[in-house]
Amino acid sequence: MTFTRIDLGANVRKDMIEILNQRLAGAIDLAGQCKQAHWNVKGPQFAALHLLFDTFHANMNGHVDEIAERITALGGVARGTVATVAKATDLPGYPEDITDGQAHLKALGDAFAKFGKSVRANIDDCDKAGDKDTADLFTGVSRAVDKDLWMIDAHLGK
Ligand SMILES: [Fe+2]
Repeated sequence: MTFTRIDLGANVRKDMIEILNQRLAGAIDLAGQCKQAHWNVKGPQFAALHLLFDTFHANMNGHVDEIAERITALGGVARGTVATVAKATDLPGYPEDITDGQAHLKALGDAFAKFGKSVRANIDDCDKAGDKDTADLFTGVSRAVDKDLWMIDAHLGK
């Protein structure tokens, strides 16, 4: 780990960096999935969904940057290359053969729900480890992911 004057023990920082890198991989994967949906969606809802999926991508990119820079603030290496993310992500691969808006909403909704569940668990992991700032970061991400998931499910008529 690199130098930092942040007054958290090295073991706590090491654990936080590992958790943050797990979620960084998921967030980068999910940001790409949002663009995949943005580019490939077709059908009568195209205009609305094309824009909505780009908004999700922008939101997720914001989380990516926050997570990555928390890693480096804590003295870690943010592992954000495509090759690393492909190995580290725990999200299922996004289907490449779908075009229908509802199919994209379903695929993205499943990914957002899985990512959101992990983030919510990480809030408690970080709080218990004694890093309330990383817990707070994940709390903000969780709230935003919940909101985007609500929009996805509302489009699905749920
Ligand atoms: Fe675009």
